[in-house]
Amino acid sequence: MARILDRRRLVPNLHLIEVHAPEVARKCRPGQFVILMADERGERIPLSIADWDAKRGSVTSVFLAVGTTTHKLAQLQAGDEIPVYVGPLGRPSEIENFGTVLLAGGCFGIGAIYPLARALKKAGNRVLTVIDVKANYLLYWEEKLRAVSDRVFVAARDFALNSEQYVPAKITEILAAEPKVDRAIAIGCTYLMYTCAMATKPRGIKTIVSLNPIMVDGTGMCGACRCTAAGRTRFACVDGPDFDGHELDWDELFKRRKSYFEDEIRSLCQWERTIFP
Ligand SMILES: Cc1cc2nc3c(=O)[nH]c(=O)nc-3n(C[C@H](O)[C@H](O)[C@H](O)COP(=O)(O)OP(=O)(O)OC[C@H]3O[C@@H](n4cnc5c(N)ncnc54)[C@H](O)[C@@H]3O)c2cc1C
Ligand code: FES
Repeated sequence: MARILDRRRLVPNLHLIEVHAPEVARKCRPGQFVILMADERGERIPLSIADWDAKRGSVTSVFLAVGTTTHKLAQLQAGDEIPVYVGPLGRPSEIENFGTVLLAGGCFGIGAIYPLARALKKAGNRVLTVIDVKANYLLYWEEKLRAVSDRVFVAARDFALNSEQYVPAKITEILAAEPKVDRAIAIGCTYLMYTCAMATKPRGIKTIVSLNPIMVDGTGMCGACRCTAAGRTRFACVDGPDFDGHELDWDELFKRRKSYFEDEIRSLCQWERTIFP
């Protein structure tokens, strides 16, 4: 059992969850994730670690309410307990002084890039961070990211933010202005990561993406998270979640993510009927 210390809506449909998990908080490193269950009868879902506090013994994630488990999670409150909270899982991200690093985050990825920006800045990099949002009311953690970045750019489809760009267009603009970018990292939905990798490909900039395929055990045993990178079969939970975005079989990844689409919709409808009878 793990106790929820905080669960609040950051912006519409995106929630923060902070869990008391001292052993996870003591060991976690940027780029890792946890697997949790919202209740005893539910499924296990992975969430990236967006922050942690070893002294408080707490671990924070940001999640998008998309299906049954994330909607159940969004109904929990501080003081509630969740039955399973396992981590840290996955290989930590490579952190060293690369030079100039371009980070891109969208949706829950705005939270997930925060520990990377912080660690890369501490390692001496010049950190350029791009936040992708559809509209200004979906923007969160901008100040937190500004505190650990040299520059923060917002790519939005919103006149209120004086911007009409999707993140790859912003990346192309930044790359045209920057003499040298040594590495790029993108976290968010699969489509955002794919388009970021395609935007950096013409410049040959190594681009790391943090994959979010379906996972079950998170320990390399079930095969649910299988993907192909550089022509080799890999398991995102133990070989990743970070992979080189220029080496991935994106078609396979998109197809595998949709494997249970109809069941997921049915499950959400059934659950909604139980709480809104
Ligand atoms: C290593 C790893 C780290 C992850 N980190 C995070 C994280 O930090 N925060 C987070 O929110 N998620 C994260 N995910 C994804 C998260 O695990 C899934 O969103 C979650 O399992 C969904 O469970 P569910 O039961 O709520 O939805 P499901 O019943 O599994 O169904 C979700 C449905 O929503 C669709 N969907 C998925 N993403 C979107 C989207 N952006 N917009 C619209 N529809 C969508 C899917 O196609 C699917 O059909 C991560 C995944 C992995 C593998
Ligand atoms: S989640 Fe089972 S092998 Fe990766």
